[in-house]
Amino acid sequence: MSTQRESIHGQWSNRWVFVLAATGSAVGLGNIWKFPYITGENGGGAFVLVYLMCIAAIGIPIMMAEVLLGRRGRQSPINTMHELAVEEGRSIRWSLLGWSGVVAGFLILSYYSVIAGWALAYVYDASSGAFRGLPAEEVKNLFSAMVANPGALIFWHSLFMLMTMLVVARGVRRGLEAAVRFLMPALFVLLLVMVGYAINTGAFSQGLAFLFTPDFSKITPEGVLIAMGHAFFTLSLGMGAIMIYGSYMPKQASIAKTSIIVAMADTVVALLAGMAIFPIVFANGLEPGAGPGLIFQTLPIAFGQMPGGSFFGTVFFVLLVFAAWSSAISLIEPAVAWLVENRGWSRNKASLLCGLATWLMGLGTVFSFNLWSSYTLWGKTFFDLLDFLTSNIMLPLGGLFIAIFAAWVMKPSSTADELALAQEGIAYKAWWFLVRFITPLAVTIVFLNAIGLL
Ligand code: PFF
Repeated sequence: MSTQRESIHGQWSNRWVFVLAATGSAVGLGNIWKFPYITGENGGGAFVLVYLMCIAAIGIPIMMAEVLLGRRGRQSPINTMHELAVEEGRSIRWSLLGWSGVVAGFLILSYYSVIAGWALAYVYDASSGAFRGLPAEEVKNLFSAMVANPGALIFWHSLFMLMTMLVVARGVRRGLEAAVRFLMPALFVLLLVMVGYAINTGAFSQGLAFLFTPDFSKITPEGVLIAMGHAFFTLSLGMGAIMIYGSYMPKQASIAKTSIIVAMADTVVALLAGMAIFPIVFANGLEPGAGPGLIFQTLPIAFGQMPGGSFFGTVFFVLLVFAAWSSAISLIEPAVAWLVENRGWSRNKASLLCGLATWLMGLGTVFSFNLWSSYTLWGKTFFDLLDFLTSNIMLPLGGLFIAIFAAWVMKPSSTADELALAQEGIAYKAWWFLVRFITPLAVTIVFLNAIGLL
């Protein structure tokens, strides 16, 4: 049976727009800011290998599952889950999965916006020539001074939230398509420039060895959990963002092909970011495990030394802001779409309310870098806790339930129909096996291992 639902929020013009939008959601701070610093904190190569395995064996199959659920339901994740559960004759409590995604998106955006604010501040610094000739030590001080200043962080966080909610308010087609068409390719080119610079730093091979030589003695059960959580985070999975983008996808587009393209593009960007950053870290005797400030304490060294550095630095941080922007939009879109569908609100009103709530929550992250930096729970600041809870617990759990729904609750005839794959064919069978057995098992094992039960 083929479903004929249409989304009231509009549809992408063609499948390439879906690929761009999903890549826009996937490629963001997760690739360029987070991947390098968590790789640095977790010892390099072995962590990268686990992360790549999670992308291939868990990320791609779950992405396909999320897109297919979205396209079949054609509504916000909460209503999609409700509708599909009814269609399969199951409990409407499955819509809780949509709710947990809305909450995760809200929590992630609250801190995501603060970090994107750092990138905005660095656009300003780079363009005013603040990095020129700056030694590594001073670059570090510049970063420390910025995060120590709550007023500045609030200013940039507010600006970023405003930018995000403006696009969200304009709606899917007009707002999102325009934002992703040119900027992703441009970011890619700039990363290549940075890798080109890194090749000349003298520590390129050391950087590569750090990234790609696995040393399993350096990885802990928590490191494995972080690698898996990051696979979800970087591909925007487990919270309905990709599901809602799937709901705007034209019926003819191939879910398998588009998901693989998006995951590959995302992975390549993360690896390029790592290849740009670690050579600079080693060439300047810096600490790979420096934490969330890593890219802000390394890239400006390069921009301060290379010819045309102020120009490249400005363009780089502008593109980083755009990458963060197109991800931020997808973090809040499920909540806004639900308010429009169920409360009958205008997009403007829904965006305003969601934006204000997220902004307020973001203040907690702002203060966790200064006024509240000494308040910790299990050694984690407010920001660390929020990040841990969302990336390493909520998203993998969301993914687990998406897998269970797609491969245990839905009939194979429904999923094969939506994926447009023959139910007896090898491609469908491989997907079904991964989503039905491997994903739930892997997520469960990693969880149990991390809490010390295995
Ligand atoms: N994938 C984004 C990144 O890597 O920066 C972050 C993100 C966006 C996570 C949307 C989750 C999401 F639903």
